[in-house]
Amino acid sequence: MKKCWIIYNGSLVNDKFRDQAELVQEAAYRARISASIYKNYEVFMDVTAAIESLPDFVVFLDKDIVLATFLKSLGIPVFNDPEVIERCDNKTKQAITLAHDGIPMPRTIVAPKVYRNFTIRDSGYYERVLEELGLPMIIKEARGSFGMNVYLIETEEQFYEKTDSLRGVDHLFQEFIDSSRGRDIRVNVVGDRVVAAMYRHSETDFRANITNGGIAETIELTEAQIEVALRAAKSVGAVFAGVDLLFGVNEEPLVCEVNAAAHIRNIYNVTGINVADAMIEYILEVIA
Ligand SMILES: Nc1ncnc2c1ncn2[C@@H]1O[C@H](COP(=O)(O)OP(=O)(O)O)[C@@H](O)[C@H]1O
Ligand SMILES: [Mg+2]
Repeated sequence: MKKCWIIYNGSLVNDKFRDQAELVQEAAYRARISASIYKNYEVFMDVTAAIESLPDFVVFLDKDIVLATFLKSLGIPVFNDPEVIERCDNKTKQAITLAHDGIPMPRTIVAPKVYRNFTIRDSGYYERVLEELGLPMIIKEARGSFGMNVYLIETEEQFYEKTDSLRGVDHLFQEFIDSSRGRDIRVNVVGDRVVAAMYRHSETDFRANITNGGIAETIELTEAQIEVALRAAKSVGAVFAGVDLLFGVNEEPLVCEVNAAAHIRNIYNVTGINVADAMIEYILEVIA
């Protein structure tokens, strides 16, 4: 019998991380695989010692990239690959990759690395960002989920207030896609196919994230939406991906972001599809 580990971040108090791991465990059991759930800090990283009883593969639901890299170094297949997790975890690196591959996306400018005592005003860079993107615009921290570190900037004052507070924090500036205000699509990709999708909309916020008050329903994707979601996942190298799509002015799909450790509970509740079944099936195929 094959054996797998499912790893999530144990330092986050929110139950949804454990729940996510359990959905994967149930899928593993259905495929007759022995599956153990571990918090990241339950794997002791004594890198100089030998580790006994390694699994056949690891489903890595965490962003503990060092742990993922350690496990990969032991020769265990890790899904997603640690490099992919790292790329996706940083929205600036991800944007560079997507843009390089010509994936349709909002116009995006990455902020320079500046230290806390830097004077933002009169540097020339930020004035140019304002000039190029205009207002309103989106500012996103490189790291963040559930819409928490994404800001809609409507005035110059807000722009400088936010950029001042983000000195020392990686972030990017993005064209605000007004035609997509409060609505987007989450597409779950496994391998080279779309497994499930949902339409999310919010009446109260420009962000459609469910955690942020968005409501989700099923959606039939267009050919273009499928194609762009698959291309985006492939571009960043993710075999499991939660791709967020925005609606351009003519409803054309624009990639908002690709999540490497996409949560699968909401999409399960909305569509009845446990994406983890496809994940496990995919892994068994590639490690065979
Ligand atoms: N450029 C944009 N234009 C319009 N809405 C956006 C834009 N970027 C993000 N959003 C909205 O904000 C939400 C959160 O942004 P996202 O980049 O997906 O960050 P997170 O990782 O927090 O989910 C998106 O689901 C979308 O509804
Ligand atoms: Mg998102």
